[in-house]
Amino acid sequence: MVQAGTTQVGGRVGIVGTGHRARMYTTAVSERPDSQLVALCDLNSERMKHHQKLLKDLGRPAATEYHPDDFEKMLDEQKLDVLVVTTVDATHHLYIVPALKKGIRVLTEKPMTTDVPKCKLILDTVEETKGSLQVLFNYRYNPVHWKVEEVIASGKIGNVKSVHFEWLLDTVHGADYFRRWHRYKDKSGGLMVHKSSHHFDLVNFWINAKPKEVFGMGSLAFYGAENGAKSGWARDYYRARDSEAASDDPFAIHLEDEPGLKALYADAEHVDNYHRDMNVFAKDITIEDDMAVLVKYNTGATMTYHLTAYSPWEGYRVMFNGDKGRLELEVVESEYRVPTKKGGAADGVVHGEKALPQDGGAKITLQPLWGKAEKVPFQVGVGGHGGGDERMLDQIFGPRPGQVEKDSAVTRLSANQVDGALAMAVGLAANESFKSGKLVKIDDLLGVVL
Ligand SMILES: NC(=O)c1ccc[n+]([C@@H]2O[C@H](COP(=O)([O-])OP(=O)(O)OC[C@H]3O[C@@H](n4cnc5c(N)ncnc54)[C@H](O)[C@@H]3O)[C@@H](O)[C@H]2O)c1
Repeated sequence: MVQAGTTQVGGRVGIVGTGHRARMYTTAVSERPDSQLVALCDLNSERMKHHQKLLKDLGRPAATEYHPDDFEKMLDEQKLDVLVVTTVDATHHLYIVPALKKGIRVLTEKPMTTDVPKCKLILDTVEETKGSLQVLFNYRYNPVHWKVEEVIASGKIGNVKSVHFEWLLDTVHGADYFRRWHRYKDKSGGLMVHKSSHHFDLVNFWINAKPKEVFGMGSLAFYGAENGAKSGWARDYYRARDSEAASDDPFAIHLEDEPGLKALYADAEHVDNYHRDMNVFAKDITIEDDMAVLVKYNTGATMTYHLTAYSPWEGYRVMFNGDKGRLELEVVESEYRVPTKKGGAADGVVHGEKALPQDGGAKITLQPLWGKAEKVPFQVGVGGHGGGDERMLDQIFGPRPGQVEKDSAVTRLSANQVDGALAMAVGLAANESFKSGKLVKIDDLLGVVL
């Protein structure tokens, strides 16, 4: 059985959930001659067609298409080596579990899943099958992030006592979570699980610790019908498509202005009635946009964390206080955004595929006790998610022909089912604390000590 984290080049690959994120995997597999994408599975046949077109454009044979009802059949017929799971977050377990039972190596997008019963099912299945599950935390593969881990592991700031972490999403990228399925907690787990599991995973990885106790306060403070009416930002429409009111709304997305969005969603909505361009100031939003969280780790370290989804700039600041010094990371992904209007340039409306238009760079600053602050050099990543996507793909599928593996550090960056569970658990615990107003113990929440 192949263990998560080992580099495995080649093989028969299937993808379940053929939406936006899956395009990166379709392309990556197709660009490596030793791998072949043989099977696609999705509820929406039009979205699968878009992936068939990608395959054709890359000169690769068509994949066999399956409806989710025939997923077991797909596993039996296609003899997969690898399954990539890129469906809606709350459905990941439906595919992870049967594939592991058939001995297939599974790569799942984050979050691993969205609630405790599904998490337990996944952990138990990995245990029973001794299978290989990798959670695709691409942020770990961004060179600036693994440099932070290297500096802390080197002992230069001593033992980490506390972390202060603020993450800002702007009113383009942040707003996008409120237009799509992500705005429903039962589908995404809310931003605490869907988005912050990346950040909580990074902290677990950076300080080599396990989260134990969580307290949080979260609210829908900016998006949603009531807030929009109070601030004056709300416009009266259900979705942007064919709406005059949305045509110059800075919070709207115009699917027809970007070919990928048009093909995947506007041209596919007749199949499942999924509207990816809903009004962010709607009544039915069930997730938060402003969240304050306190975490205590098994090492005794604490973290103060804040996520804001309606900021004018996008990026993050993290500070680590150690008993020998302090380390600070600042990343400005986008200094400001210019709103797009219907018919305008849609470049940059979708986050993650490439650097944002007003990229402000990153810096790491190290300051020992009694010493001057110094800049820590690091490799600058190029491409989606600070270069993290490319490195992660090289680790999974091997480098593209003619390229060498970018860095030997990549194999140790791989995250397994326990990493996936611990990252998600902080978000789930925060969600519980938002409701109860009480501190939540992770071991009690999960019913197991990881
Ligand atoms: N790591 C990252 O940086 C990153 C970035 C974006 C998305 N993601 C993750 O990738 C996954 C997909 O996100 P996306 O942005 O591509 O969303 P999307 O809406 O574009 O795609 C989701 C796809 O899943 C399909 N689907 C929904 N329910 C299904 C079911 N029960 N069975 C089979 N297919 C089903 C939908 O039809 C759709 O094609 C999510 O888990 C998300 O969290 C990760």
